[in-house]
Amino acid sequence: MKEISVDNLSDNIINLIGKDWMLVTAGNASSFNTMTASWGSMGFLWGKPVATIFIRPQRHTYGFIESSDVFTLSFFSEEYRKALTLCGTKSGRDTDKVKESGITPYAPMSDCVSFEEARLVIRCRKLYKSLLKEENFIDKGILPKWYKDGDLHYVYTAEIEQIWAK
Ligand SMILES: Cc1cc2nc3c(=O)[nH]c(=O)nc-3n(C[C@H](O)[C@H](O)[C@H](O)COP(=O)(O)O)c2cc1C
Repeated sequence: MKEISVDNLSDNIINLIGKDWMLVTAGNASSFNTMTASWGSMGFLWGKPVATIFIRPQRHTYGFIESSDVFTLSFFSEEYRKALTLCGTKSGRDTDKVKESGITPYAPMSDCVSFEEARLVIRCRKLYKSLLKEENFIDKGILPKWYKDGDLHYVYTAEIEQIWAK
């Protein structure tokens, strides 16, 4: 992996997140959790390159994101689709997802964890958190489609501090 700058990030971000999916990982080498996410965005805000992720509070990963200043977004080639499906359907509460999916954790820096198999890793430092509110939805049709069981997402916007690519 070599560190690249935001200027050299050539992926189509909409497809990268929405179609390739990503692992959101928070914690450190001795205690971390990871989950698959396909909702999010990247852009420019408050004078910084940022990534925004949407995490439901019932995710085991939520607690790790809460207690960490940083998290990583890890992107993989198609051959890891099965591993990402597993990390998006099992919970770290009762499953050793890393073992079951066969991916190899490593710490690119002491405060974060990613996976050796990732082709692109983005380390993000949390800037802002909010909880989506029903009354703020302009298109109310989104609510019954995505939130019939309640539990709206927490939204984290974070500064993109490091990017590593293969
Ligand atoms: C393709 C895919 C995309 C997902 N995207 C998100 C997401 O953006 N936000 C979220 O909260 N959960 C998302 N999930 C669900 C979590 O990955 C899933 O609930 C996971 O088991 C949580 O693991 P954890 O309990 O170990 O954190 C997604 C699942 C899949 C399969």
